[in-house]
Amino acid sequence: MQPTPAESLEIRTLLQSLCGVSLADDKSYLLSTRLANPLRIRGLTSFADYLAQLRQPANQALRDELVDCLTTAETSFFRDASLYGVLRQRLLPWLADLLYRRSLTAVTPPVVRLWSAGCSTGQEPYSLAIAIAEFLRGYAAPHPRQFSLVATDISRRVLTIAQRGVYSQRELERGLTAAQRERFFRHCGEDWEISPELKRAVEFRLANLLDSSVPAGPFDLIFCRNVLIYFDPATRQRICERFYRALNPGGILVLGSAESLFGVTDLFTTAPGEELPIYRRPDPETDGPAA
Ligand SMILES: C[S@@+](CC[C@H](N)C(=O)[O-])C[C@H]1O[C@@H](n2cnc3c(N)ncnc32)[C@H](O)[C@@H]1O
Repeated sequence: MQPTPAESLEIRTLLQSLCGVSLADDKSYLLSTRLANPLRIRGLTSFADYLAQLRQPANQALRDELVDCLTTAETSFFRDASLYGVLRQRLLPWLADLLYRRSLTAVTPPVVRLWSAGCSTGQEPYSLAIAIAEFLRGYAAPHPRQFSLVATDISRRVLTIAQRGVYSQRELERGLTAAQRERFFRHCGEDWEISPELKRAVEFRLANLLDSSVPAGPFDLIFCRNVLIYFDPATRQRICERFYRALNPGGILVLGSAESLFGVTDLFTTAPGEELPIYRRPDPETDGPAA
């Protein structure tokens, strides 16, 4: 079953207003393939009937399902090795230093706050949690609990998988070493379940990057990787302004390897010669007047 051009346009416009994802006209074929199941389950025989249901104000569950079906949840552990190399070599030592500096003035042990925005089925925030655990191994301080990790997504379906933390052998093989599997996972039937400590280390929340359901911050590090790529330029700009407000001065925003803020916003700076999409919210206190 194919939607007419007018039906395709209405569904794509609705999708964009719900989650920001901009599906081009030439991707209309996705509507017939990805929406075939929801239509079949409801016994709907035309996109006109489907749209009539989508338009009903009380039918939020159907609209949530539309977002689920038409967004891309592709992810893997330690996606993009070079980026995680920088996380280990530069960003985690910087966060540890931040904790040390905050401890000089804090009464209780300070925390640094990290946000994985658009976390999909959890591989990204669990990779962060694993990298932190490996970084802190053998050190008495700081404590892993001083790294607060929030992970959000618009899709209830992917968040349920993320919170369960159970992955197939094949999913583990995409990015994890055997040593990491042995240390951080345990057998769960034919699959592998992430250790309770790592599961507890990540707080998963439902949040739409387009609205105020997102965590307010302040954060020190935001990962929003392979999410903005699906949005139009105006939506990217709006979301990046949100990230800017959610970051502490000096805080870092990390995008996907095919993403960039070029032409989106000039609120952030990059380190000279930086080749990876790592952006910093300027800090007038430490950067001086030239920043
Ligand atoms: C391709 S995955 C990226 C996963 C992970 N960040 C990575 O790089 O491996 C994109 C995720 O963005 C989520 N997403 C799309 N629109 C969103 C929105 N408006 N608010 C929050 N999450 C959104 C999707 O549900 C999907 O899980």
